[in-house]
Amino acid sequence: MIPRKGLLYFLCLFLSIYSEVTTAEFFKPFNVTYDHRALVIDGKRRMLISAGVHYPRATPEMWPDLIAKSKEGGADVIQTYVFWNGHEPVRGQYYFEGRYDLVKFVKLVGYSGLYLHLRIGPYVCAEWNFGGFPVWLRDIPGIVFRTNNAPFKEEMERFVSKVVNLMREEKLFSWQGGPIIMLQIENEYGNIEPSFGKGGKEYVKWAARMALSLDAGVPWVMCKQTDAPHNIIDSCNAYYCDGFKPNSRDKPIFWTEDWDGWYTEWGGRLPHRPVEDLAFAVARFFERGGSFQNYYMYFGGTNFGRTSGGPFYITSYDYDAPIDEYGLLSEPKWGHLKDLHAAIKLCEPALVASDSPTYIKLGPKQEAHVYHTNVHPGTLNLSLSEFRGRCSAFLANIDERRTATVTFRGQKYTIPPWSVSILPDCRNTVFNTAKVRAQTSVKLVESDLPVASNLFPALQLMSQNGMSYISKSWMTTKEPIGIWSKNNFTVQGILEHLNVTKDQSDYLWYATRIFISDGDIFFWEKNDIRPKLVIDSIRDILLIFVNGQLIGKAIGRSVKVAQTLQFSPGHNDLILITETVGLQNYGAFLEKDGAGIKGKIKLTGFKNGDVDLSKSLWTYQVGLQGEFLKFYLEDGEKVEWAELTHDAIPSMFAWYKTYFDTPAGTDPVAIDLASMGKGQAWVNGHHIGRYWTLVAPKDGCIACDYRGPYNSDKCTTNCGKPTQTWYHVPRSWLQASHNLLVIFEEIGGNPFDISVKIRSARTICAKVSESHYPSLSKFGDSDFLGLDLLKSNVTPEINLYCQGGDVISSITFASYGTPQGSCQNFARGSCHAPNSLSVVSQACQGKRRCSLEISDTLFGGDPCHGVVKELAVEATCSSPSRSDGSSQL
Ligand SMILES: *[C@@H]1O[C@H](CO)[C@@H](O)[C@H](O)[C@H]1NC(C)=O
Ligand SMILES: *[C@@H]1O[C@H](CO)[C@@H](O)[C@H](O)[C@H]1NC(C)=O
Ligand SMILES: *[C@@H]1O[C@H](CO)[C@@H](O)[C@H](O)[C@H]1NC(C)=O
Ligand SMILES: *[C@@H]1O[C@H](CO)[C@@H](O)[C@H](O)[C@H]1NC(C)=O
Repeated sequence: MIPRKGLLYFLCLFLSIYSEVTTAEFFKPFNVTYDHRALVIDGKRRMLISAGVHYPRATPEMWPDLIAKSKEGGADVIQTYVFWNGHEPVRGQYYFEGRYDLVKFVKLVGYSGLYLHLRIGPYVCAEWNFGGFPVWLRDIPGIVFRTNNAPFKEEMERFVSKVVNLMREEKLFSWQGGPIIMLQIENEYGNIEPSFGKGGKEYVKWAARMALSLDAGVPWVMCKQTDAPHNIIDSCNAYYCDGFKPNSRDKPIFWTEDWDGWYTEWGGRLPHRPVEDLAFAVARFFERGGSFQNYYMYFGGTNFGRTSGGPFYITSYDYDAPIDEYGLLSEPKWGHLKDLHAAIKLCEPALVASDSPTYIKLGPKQEAHVYHTNVHPGTLNLSLSEFRGRCSAFLANIDERRTATVTFRGQKYTIPPWSVSILPDCRNTVFNTAKVRAQTSVKLVESDLPVASNLFPALQLMSQNGMSYISKSWMTTKEPIGIWSKNNFTVQGILEHLNVTKDQSDYLWYATRIFISDGDIFFWEKNDIRPKLVIDSIRDILLIFVNGQLIGKAIGRSVKVAQTLQFSPGHNDLILITETVGLQNYGAFLEKDGAGIKGKIKLTGFKNGDVDLSKSLWTYQVGLQGEFLKFYLEDGEKVEWAELTHDAIPSMFAWYKTYFDTPAGTDPVAIDLASMGKGQAWVNGHHIGRYWTLVAPKDGCIACDYRGPYNSDKCTTNCGKPTQTWYHVPRSWLQASHNLLVIFEEIGGNPFDISVKIRSARTICAKVSESHYPSLSKFGDSDFLGLDLLKSNVTPEINLYCQGGDVISSITFASYGTPQGSCQNFARGSCHAPNSLSVVSQACQGKRRCSLEISDTLFGGDPCHGVVKELAVEATCSSPSRSDGSSQL
């Protein structure tokens, strides 16, 4: 019952913007150096905005769009880590293809005209499995990670050289005409350096020497490394870096990770960083002498497969970034930062012309930093207006509560709390970090269930016919509990989880047999006690089965277990499974940081005392039968699939499969797994990640105020709901119809309620006041003569645009006057220009983007004299082919 229509849409989908990359040179070759103020690119100091985008957290088909959106958002640089365990899954066998095609990614960045900051590490943290280290690294005899240890240094040098040489061979460094302007060695090593004593200090020096010896010809950074050697730039990673001082006066102030959101754990709330605070942090950084700032992340993406770190980090790595997990713009975050970047660019000539800003105290918690050339205007032989163009100022109000009015150069400025006003000519404010002019967009996740609006004739057609993308028929097969193959082995004692699995799977089975005498039973009954399984510590998950029945579980990073057991007389099978949920990615001595059972394991409550199971014979089995026999492939080895019926859904350890058709259009696709428990999912053989419906705490999601220092607990949502229910399936992994969806479910769920959804941002809103600053689009790029425009009367604008080729199909609300409420809740106020809706509709309908001046003239006169007026608009976007109501289906 799957509709096989909509082929036209699929054709459009596959004629994507992605094209093969062939040419070698991207720029005229240029050198990159640095001085105490900034990176010096081709002889010129630059103020740089960088966008963190990790290539394997998207697909190559998504890369061009992500890079283009970064560029449009005002980025000069793309920053990424290099993921060693993705590139060298087996020692000596390199992999640079698919999502790990680093060369292609760097070339795409070059083609877009952006620069690239390559953070090789090779330790990367990144909430990535094992911090990016291949798990085989821990098996190298005598190895100790990240210290003055010969085996480690040898492996690290081999991989770092491999990457640098590859970039050089492909002519990707700036001096070869490529986009790479900067590299990174190690990563936040300063955090753990004290754990290694003298060895740590030696290692830092060695890492720096080794990196420089590779002769890459561009500067290297070490982040969070106060003892970074001469010639290596130490940089800041934090929520705020405006107070940061590098360890030498010869080095510039760099911010390699501006945390614009945060990562999430299973069962955690979803963190959000308000854009007003983020913009404040960035403006403060440039205000106080910073010159390179990178958003970590600008696009977070998805931890596909088992790449997520942890333990316990979720599959989504959305990070509350300006581009969301699915590649859609997160508004108003993206748009407000774009406006901020444009304002900073207007200041760039003055910022690079000064060695340091002049500080002026404006009030108890108010200050200005002024940049101008360090010489008297007369000696520069500039006209006064040209000179003003080379003066830029930042006025900051760091008071968390109160708006302040300050006097600067004889003029009065009103500055909202916890905000910075930017004056590219030291006179006119073009931007304030707390005044958001950018549009909001409302993300919708639509399912194949009937939709309320008439926006999607295609979907409605399907729902009217009672059809859905996903088949109603499911197949199932069981995963055995315990040992399932000849690859089992028996040894005395408890082995460490990773030593056995080598992380080939999350799962490790342990089986042993326990003889219970009639005497034991009698002893328990007489004394009214029960035997217990006691384990010193487990991580991350332990399930306990006795004679095939699940009787207990433990979850955590280091949990003591004391589980009452129910035995029968005679032989009893005690079966345990330990599971990893992303390997530890942070901290010293990761090589020792294993998983599974730690310490002693024993049975207590026996007549003759405790039974020490640490010395027993245990039979081991790595992984699941379905993983190793590849149940998730269409041509997987012999599997006996049976039809799943509603009244007989297996409770746990089961595989399910079905098929679904791809929704029409180009909207990102997600699978909704809210009805399931915990497990893993595959689409057409691609592992889309782990899933888990663990619920976030009921409380702690308090209304968020952007004012005051941010931390990851400050502004959270999703209380009382599963942390993640939608799982991104990149469109390039889909065919038009009959996509194979395979699920391994571990604790029980209902596959019949799984649905295929599309994610879109078709409701857009904006609200701009006539007191807002004029749009920066009115001014030329860094053209300080253009700033003269500021003197003329430029009115603020409202800008609306649709994503992904959509057009504005209808205006659902418009009011010029004193509109109330916020997006999706707008209402007219006491002042309202009656022609608001028709004026806005006429200007915007049918267009991809439109701009409207906030002025009385546009609305045929002043609707209420002497009142500050605002224009609020809510609009709906839809695909041009659908907006006329006709359907291509
Ligand atoms: C870059 O610097 C090197 C070494 O100083 C020099 O030989 C080369 O000509 C420079 N390249 C450019 C494009 O300026
Ligand atoms: C200053 O600029 C004017 C006009 O651009 C020019 O005629 C004059 O020669 C300049 N003087 C000096 C000292 O460079
Ligand atoms: C476990 O391994 C042994 C030895 O290879 C084999 O005889 C036995 O059948 C295996 N068990 C299972 C369940 O396959
Ligand atoms: C893991 O294996 C290594 C040898 O390969 C051994 O040195 C280490 O002690 C083992 N870890 C544990 C916890 O048993």
